Amino acid sequence: MLIRRNRGWELREAAATPEAVFMERRALLKAMGFGALLIPGMTAAIASDAAEDAKDSTDPSAGLYPVKRNPHYKLDRPLTDPKYSEYYNNFYEFGSEKDIADAAQALKIRPWTIKIDGMVEKPLEIGIDDLLKKMPLEERLYRHRCVEAWSMAVPWSGFPMSAFLALAKPLSSAKYVRMETFLDASVASGQKQFWYPWPYVEGVTIAEAGNELAFMVTGMYGKPMPKQDGAPLRLVLPWKYGFKSIKSIVRVSFTDKQPVTFWQTVQGDEYGFWANVNPEVPHPRWSQETEREIGTDKRVPTLKWNGYGEFVAHLYDGLGNEKLFI
Ligand code: MTE
Repeated sequence: MLIRRNRGWELREAAATPEAVFMERRALLKAMGFGALLIPGMTAAIASDAAEDAKDSTDPSAGLYPVKRNPHYKLDRPLTDPKYSEYYNNFYEFGSEKDIADAAQALKIRPWTIKIDGMVEKPLEIGIDDLLKKMPLEERLYRHRCVEAWSMAVPWSGFPMSAFLALAKPLSSAKYVRMETFLDASVASGQKQFWYPWPYVEGVTIAEAGNELAFMVTGMYGKPMPKQDGAPLRLVLPWKYGFKSIKSIVRVSFTDKQPVTFWQTVQGDEYGFWANVNPEVPHPRWSQETEREIGTDKRVPTLKWNGYGEFVAHLYDGLGNEKLFI
């Protein structure tokens, strides 16, 4: 459908303001005291002092961070400065541009309940703070590669998805995990865009969810998760394109049917279920051979499985007929 094709995030990125210019513009507006004023030609998301100040102050999990770093997961590049990674986002619930950080402050992250249902021993609802008490929190440095061919390196805090599986107790007949983001168009104006199939849905196989790299994330840079990055609970799957890393999760269901994801519904031939990073398999409309590092603007070669092959390549043995890299 034409309207959907034109609204794919990649088109925005292709014409995106370079981050340095974006950050300067943001700082300038702030210095000029424009606050949350709507300025013609710019989005309302820019330069709200109040929103920045409010960022972490109300998060009751603030005392849990920083958590101990797990040294097992190493980076081959410097960490991205948070002034970029916390302000250059994809979160379509709050708009299809990158500068949604201020708009995302409208999301209320307490109380926040996660529903666990489907093929489990016993369905469960758990509040985020109770979940945090039960889970083994740690910090991991991961590369983060978007399908749009940009990348970051981020210190995420959270817990292995395998620990979440142990809590949820899926039945042996369950084959997939389906996850869903909140649905509330009164705070997330993007959800008024009826041509998108809200709520955002993502899915992985049980084997992928149990892989040691699959990480449920609750913080970054030694602090609770900023709302714009998916507070209070998101997924991070560093060997897959970023759209698999669903934000602000409210429901986790176990099923024997492959979940139909948000982007599959929008444009399945371009954003499939598997979406594993591979420089040799171009996106139908652009190359995936290299990526632009956010912050430095350096172009670097993309690695198969985003460099995590030793951890995950075996998951796909025998799945050669699947479109593993779209
Ligand atoms: N989750 C939800 N609910 N909504 C979104 O629009 N965007 C995805 C993913 N998770 C998205 C989402 C995409 S396309 C990417 S690249 C990453 O979030 C971006 O994460 P970041 O903003 O923390 O870099």
